[in-house]
Amino acid sequence: MQVKTAQESLTILTDLVLPGETNYLDNLFGGELLARMDRACSIAARRHSSRIVVTASVNHVAFSKAIPVGSVVTIEAKVSRAFTSSMEIYVDVWIEDRQSGARTKVNEGIYTFVAVDETGKPVKIPAIKPETALEKERFEGALRRKQLSLILAGKMQPNEATALKALFS
Ligand SMILES: CC(C)(COP(=O)(O)OP(=O)(O)OC[C@H]1O[C@@H](n2cnc3c(N)ncnc32)[C@H](O)[C@@H]1OP(=O)(O)O)[C@@H](O)C(=O)NCCC(=O)NCCS
Repeated sequence: MQVKTAQESLTILTDLVLPGETNYLDNLFGGELLARMDRACSIAARRHSSRIVVTASVNHVAFSKAIPVGSVVTIEAKVSRAFTSSMEIYVDVWIEDRQSGARTKVNEGIYTFVAVDETGKPVKIPAIKPETALEKERFEGALRRKQLSLILAGKMQPNEATALKALFS
């Protein structure tokens, strides 16, 4: 099985927040941000697998800080781990100060994508080789998060979640 680095899937989308994309407080509408994150994750998953990919699950999103209208928003998505046909993708969201250019992290999310063939059937994908400390940390936790996601989706029994159970023993 082919192995690819996490870095090879890195996808960076930079865009503005326009008035039509905001809520009553003039901050970016949550659904608009989720769509942008989903798009970035989809490209990262496609770069890793070289396949058609579909969103299987949004496992976690933290809207830690509001994103005001006029902000320049940068979304960075990278595959953290690949399983048989599914991939976990971590997405980090940043805004930047107009004058200094200093970046502030405002949001992060974890998505699961599945690579499929033309009929929508899951297909095998390359493994991931994490390189940096952060990539290794995210790789390590990915099996636990996959098992939690499968339990919540009713696709796995809690007693089968070996990696998740190991956290508590
Ligand atoms: C995602 C989809 C392809 C999975 O198909 P499936 O028949 O359930 O296939 P499987 O059960 O073999 O699952 C395929 C992989 O996805 C993983 N998976 C499925 N649901 C998951 C979930 N909720 N969380 C995490 N992983 C999940 C499985 O563990 C498996 O991983 P692996 O092959 O790496 O071990 C299918 O449900 C689908 O097409 N969904 C619609 C996708 C879509 O339209 N998305 C756009 C958003 S509307």
